[in-house]
Amino acid sequence: MQEKLVELAIQARKNAYAPYSKFTVGAALQTNSGSIYTGCNVENVSYGATICAERTAICKMISEGENTISAICIASETGCTPCGMCLQVILEFASQNEDISIVLVDKDSTIRRTSMKELLPHPFHTLS
Ligand code: THU
Repeated sequence: MQEKLVELAIQARKNAYAPYSKFTVGAALQTNSGSIYTGCNVENVSYGATICAERTAICKMISEGENTISAICIASETGCTPCGMCLQVILEFASQNEDISIVLVDKDSTIRRTSMKELLPHPFHTLS
């Protein structure tokens, strides 16, 4: 099933709007119900209003009435990990006590598998 996420993230990357950085990113996430949402980065001339591919996909998921991520694939030239802001936003929609699988794919379709617990082992939260 994660092959499908990889394929859709690569596809979504083609829609990226990245005229400033030229660094195009695609994301495809799967929810606990099995639905898939994709996204790409959408840059803005103000720079600060840029939205990352992961958060585009998450906004699509939330606006369609779902809220629990089980896996996310991110496609970029370098196979980069999600930025800190995206990690915190992905974590917001994790199911309790379950890790989220994170799959990274680069321009040559080389895949690296990691997880939310590995990339953000000590996240910020307000519960004691
Ligand atoms: N970007 C993402 O889409 N996801 C990330 O996790 C890191 C960065 C985008 C934002 C910007 O459009 C471009 O990559 C360069 O930073």
